[in-house]
Amino acid sequence: MAHPQKHPQPARPLQTAAPHAARLRLVEQAAARPGTPAEHLALEAGLLAPNARIEPKYLYDALGSTLFSAITLLPEYYPTRCEAEILAAHDQDIAALAQPVRTLIDLGAGDCVKAERLLPALRPACYMPVDISVDYLGQAVQRLKRGHPDLDIVPIEQDFSAGLTLPPRLAQDGRLVFFPGSSIGNLDPARALALLRNLASLDAQILIGVDRVKARDILEPAYDDALHLTAAFNLNLLRHVNHVLGSDFDARDWEHHARYNEAEQRVEMHLRALRDVRVAWPGERRHFTPGETIHTENSYKYTIDGFEGLLREAGYRNIRHWSDTRDWFTVFHARR
Ligand SMILES: C[S@@+](CC[C@H](N)C(=O)[O-])C[C@H]1O[C@@H](n2cnc3c(N)ncnc32)[C@H](O)[C@@H]1O
Repeated sequence: MAHPQKHPQPARPLQTAAPHAARLRLVEQAAARPGTPAEHLALEAGLLAPNARIEPKYLYDALGSTLFSAITLLPEYYPTRCEAEILAAHDQDIAALAQPVRTLIDLGAGDCVKAERLLPALRPACYMPVDISVDYLGQAVQRLKRGHPDLDIVPIEQDFSAGLTLPPRLAQDGRLVFFPGSSIGNLDPARALALLRNLASLDAQILIGVDRVKARDILEPAYDDALHLTAAFNLNLLRHVNHVLGSDFDARDWEHHARYNEAEQRVEMHLRALRDVRVAWPGERRHFTPGETIHTENSYKYTIDGFEGLLREAGYRNIRHWSDTRDWFTVFHARR
């Protein structure tokens, strides 16, 4: 991860027309860096709130992304396997519905592996992975380029939680936004709806993976595994925040906690103070008493009808979906 002084110049933005486009950067020009004043303010507001919270995007730096990749191999973490099963079984149906795909846009691309598996069926001319974990994405793209020398790959660093902005050079027609991993579940339903509306406004069809409502004894171990990889993933967020904000969190003062909130249909991840903890950052500080928590992630679960309703509300029609053999996870394809 880059040190602030080593990268004093922000990389050239590709486009600044939309209000949230200021941080859209080609990954080759980017490197992980400390936060902007706006990020500092947002982090500070969350940390000083009576029920402290930190946005889940801070789970992902180079180490966080590597830990997530390891989590997907755990027996408890079913979503990745379920989604892979669906995409392998139905890639030809998806391709038939989606053709022609000129540009495959991959939101929260991570290691790009799921999109890579779709390339033979979809045959896009251009692949645009979007992620905030810029070092990790950069490595994934280097690997992808070696295997697909003829594919035009345009990796972008962008925070999609405020909406997606596309570079102007992107072809207008044949856009497919792939949003796998049930990452849509990290947004509350109102923000998920806003993002879906934003995607609809980009004239893109969508292919989106959604985790389903299911029993607590399946959901909770997926976010609290026996090897404590998810605990390490959650605790690493504190080190990432230290880098971005200049705070002095010590991961040893905190423990991971995950629970299914049935009323809200979401798995929540928290960090719980093990003792009296005083955390300081430039200009502010906060005292946490033992047992006090910081809310770090929600993963909303949907029924098929519930998610279809959200898609319709966002303006989508022609909705198709496929589920895995256990009926735990669903992939939706939709057009406006
Ligand atoms: C749950 S992982 C999914 C990774 C991969 N697509 C998969 O399905 O296995 C979420 C991915 O989204 C990225 N991400 C999380 N929040 C983001 C945000 N606000 N803007 C852009 N990328 C984000 C993370 O860095 C990570 O790569």
